[in-house]
Amino acid sequence: MPHRAPGSPGHAQYLKGRPIRYYRPTGNSGVRDLIDGGFQAFNAGRLSEACKIYTEKMLAPESDTTIGLTVAGALTPAGLGGCVIELMERGLIDFVISTGANLYHDLHYALNFTLHRGSPFLDDVELYEQGIIRIYDVLFPATVLLETDAYVRDFLVRSDLSGPIATSELHYRLGQDLLSLNPACAEHSVVAKAAQCGVPIYTSSPGDSSIGMNIAYHELMNGSTLMIDPNRDVNEVCAIILAGKQNGCVILGGGSPKNFYLQGQPTLWEVYGIPKGGNDYFIQITTDQVVWGGLSGATPAEAVSWGKVNPGVLPDTVVAYCDSTIAFPLFCEYAVGCEHNRRPRRELVHKRDELVADLLQQARASEDAKVTNEPAEVDRHR
Ligand SMILES: NC(=O)c1ccc[n+]([C@@H]2O[C@H](COP(=O)([O-])OP(=O)(O)OC[C@H]3O[C@@H](n4cnc5c(N)ncnc54)[C@H](O)[C@@H]3O)[C@@H](O)[C@H]2O)c1
Repeated sequence: MPHRAPGSPGHAQYLKGRPIRYYRPTGNSGVRDLIDGGFQAFNAGRLSEACKIYTEKMLAPESDTTIGLTVAGALTPAGLGGCVIELMERGLIDFVISTGANLYHDLHYALNFTLHRGSPFLDDVELYEQGIIRIYDVLFPATVLLETDAYVRDFLVRSDLSGPIATSELHYRLGQDLLSLNPACAEHSVVAKAAQCGVPIYTSSPGDSSIGMNIAYHELMNGSTLMIDPNRDVNEVCAIILAGKQNGCVILGGGSPKNFYLQGQPTLWEVYGIPKGGNDYFIQITTDQVVWGGLSGATPAEAVSWGKVNPGVLPDTVVAYCDSTIAFPLFCEYAVGCEHNRRPRRELVHKRDELVADLLQQARASEDAKVTNEPAEVDRHR
């Protein structure tokens, strides 16, 4: 899809900043030395610890850890999609839970639109008049939004998707469509690369992004029956976690993707009666604070009380209080340069039905066992 000429002549002055490109980690040894030797205390120390837990434990072949990445904050607009692409390609993450916004903004890169480096200190009224969108210091013309929206609507019509579907299915189909339009876009789009690598991508708040806005349009204007089925998402994520020999997460920011991942364990023990024992590894990079009481800043220790994190593994959990735009590329450089920097891809997107069927079977078995073990209790209530 070609770039559209900016609508206003004033545009140009704001879009002189260098294009934002997805940076792909290469395993830089200088960065690894810095993290091992220089990042010793405070949050540098925590980031160094996170790198060690990830590379020496979670990625160790014998741990066979199913790894979920959760993404909140405006990370694809800031150019961090390249890190996610690299991890997916190398099999270093198995599934992703992201805000819809990050996936929507990823589509700009897939469609070859340009986002520019800029300044956070601009006159927003002037930007509005010139048709420029600002995400902190990232700038792009409003036409990028309009044309990305047009692509999403066009995809929805062409795809013929209908009825309730999981977000993993929507994103997989979207990724396949992007690849069919331009196979090379897998190198600069998380959604396209995920489809290529079989990595399922979930969105915890599907109505809360421009992708969701365009699905709503499709229903209202085209009479489409397509809708996102969050139940399917909940069960798929739960089934993936159930199937994991060990489970671990890398949480960027906080927000609803964090809980959507972590709630998998309580869904298993609290709802389906399948005690899995809690998450085995927990890494979070965030600016959120614990003192406000919110989920975004909640520590791994608090998650133990909910059965989200295995109480025996607290040493394998860490929170680095850092800006993800600084910490995540460093973390990925470290991982790409580590001993176990490639794993066979699980291609979970193709195993979702099978895994959900296994969840159903185990949940039914758990219910049957409950009935067999509790006849006296049932009688008392009669
Ligand atoms: N046009 C769109 O599609 C669009 C645009 C923006 C947001 N949204 C929607 O709004 C909702 C909120 O999204 P959000 O991710 O922007 O929320 P947010 O910016 O509030 O971030 C979510 C969490 O991540 C943390 N965080 C943010 N930036 C960080 C950073 N640089 N480093 C470390 N931690 C950081 C925050 O403290 C917060 O806990 C989502 O559902 C999203 O889809 C949609």
